[in-house]
Amino acid sequence: MGQRVDLPKHLNPVDQEFINLLKHELGSSFFVEGDLSPFGRDETEDLLFVPDVVVRPQHPEQVAQLLKLCHHHRISVTPRGAGTGLSGGALPVTGGVVLDLSRMNRILNIDTDNMQVTVEPGCITEEIQKAVANHGLYYPPDPSSRGSCTIGGNIAHGAGGPHAVKYGTTRDYVLNLQVALASGELIWTGASVLKYATGYNLTQLMVGSEGSLGVVTRAVLRLIPQPTHTLLMLLPFPSLESACAAVTEVFRLGITPSALEFMERDALELVSAYLNRDIHIPDVVQAHLLIELDGSNIDLLQQEAAHIFDALQHRTVTEILLAQTAGEQQQLWQLRRQVAHAVRAASVYKEEDTVVPRAALPQLIGKVKELGNEFGFKSVCYGHAGDGNVHVNILKGDLNDEQWNGVVQEGIRAVFREVAALGGTLSGEHGVGWVQQTYMRDVVGETQRQLMRGIKTVFDPRGILNPCKIFSSHAE
Ligand code: MLT
Ligand code: ZN
Repeated sequence: MGQRVDLPKHLNPVDQEFINLLKHELGSSFFVEGDLSPFGRDETEDLLFVPDVVVRPQHPEQVAQLLKLCHHHRISVTPRGAGTGLSGGALPVTGGVVLDLSRMNRILNIDTDNMQVTVEPGCITEEIQKAVANHGLYYPPDPSSRGSCTIGGNIAHGAGGPHAVKYGTTRDYVLNLQVALASGELIWTGASVLKYATGYNLTQLMVGSEGSLGVVTRAVLRLIPQPTHTLLMLLPFPSLESACAAVTEVFRLGITPSALEFMERDALELVSAYLNRDIHIPDVVQAHLLIELDGSNIDLLQQEAAHIFDALQHRTVTEILLAQTAGEQQQLWQLRRQVAHAVRAASVYKEEDTVVPRAALPQLIGKVKELGNEFGFKSVCYGHAGDGNVHVNILKGDLNDEQWNGVVQEGIRAVFREVAALGGTLSGEHGVGWVQQTYMRDVVGETQRQLMRGIKTVFDPRGILNPCKIFSSHAE
């Protein structure tokens, strides 16, 4: 049946009268009928919060109208893209209205002269990448879920992906946003230009705000020329720490790979079983780095690859594998991109999105494993080592609910305290959402949290937008 938190005092419950009003104002064909439970989950753990109503609008004006009505009646609104989030940002924890943006999925304009694309929030990220690639252009941010996640969700969470190490995250590509405010007004946050020094940057404020300040109804994204060549190699290491230490050595060579990913042995084992791929991992190998180089000059890339080989050979324990064909590259990438699904298929799990300054990775990994022993949890670590961003997947396995919700939570808090002590924070690309807000105090100071709350109040004075996310409640 799902769960629901106690409705915060500033919000009203949804009744039939309100549903009738919404249908009358927006048109009943824009409402989902029947079982609403698919809109009560995302890809975070096994959580389910069934909403009262699901609206699937087609136009920015409808989104604005919906927010205006919900604002007036003090009803919560949880915006939703494809539901691939990993921090519970799209979970309607107070019930209320789910605003499903998947129907607003058009690519409106590809401006090849200015290298920009204008999209609706429900566009699938990979569809945007494919459409602009037809014009020789590149939209680099590529979360592993890029084949199913939406750009609206990517903007809401400041999503990253393997190519962030060279090209940056979603944030670095958002030029301008059309946003529906809680008041029902539709605004553009800035201008579709490459430089912006005109007061506070509302565009960047929206990125990563998790639908708590407004709802993105259109986005203008920056594009770059498509690189023409890639090289991909898989390097085996005898320990997690040595793989992490090798990361800094790559950058010391003066090379910026287009991806530098880490997978501990268990991650590769789980994913090869999940994909029915018969991969033999020698006992001596405990971790891998997947390193990609891209550019337009293949000779230069080969030279860079040779430098990396020479520099890291002393650390590796078996042969370095260089993908020989595009097909081999794809197979290696599939292994990396499917790790999260493989872990999910193996056990209920909590995914922590730790990020530290890159050189602190070996300490982070060491600490995570140490704390796992102390608090009794098993973790599978993988992720974007080049960014210092490691996904720590904690498996429920045989743990009972009491352990899972008790000692494991404390273990995670201990992990985040270590992360903070290393100069890092609790999320690099998945957001705070519902499941991480309980740890905000461990990494963000009181003054900073009050400033964030102040911003929230300016944009959403009645606290209707995605309540109980980022902060435990609007009234906190
Ligand atoms: C990834 O790096 O694979 C993504 O962040 C998705 C995930 O961790 O599930
Ligand atoms: Zn990731």
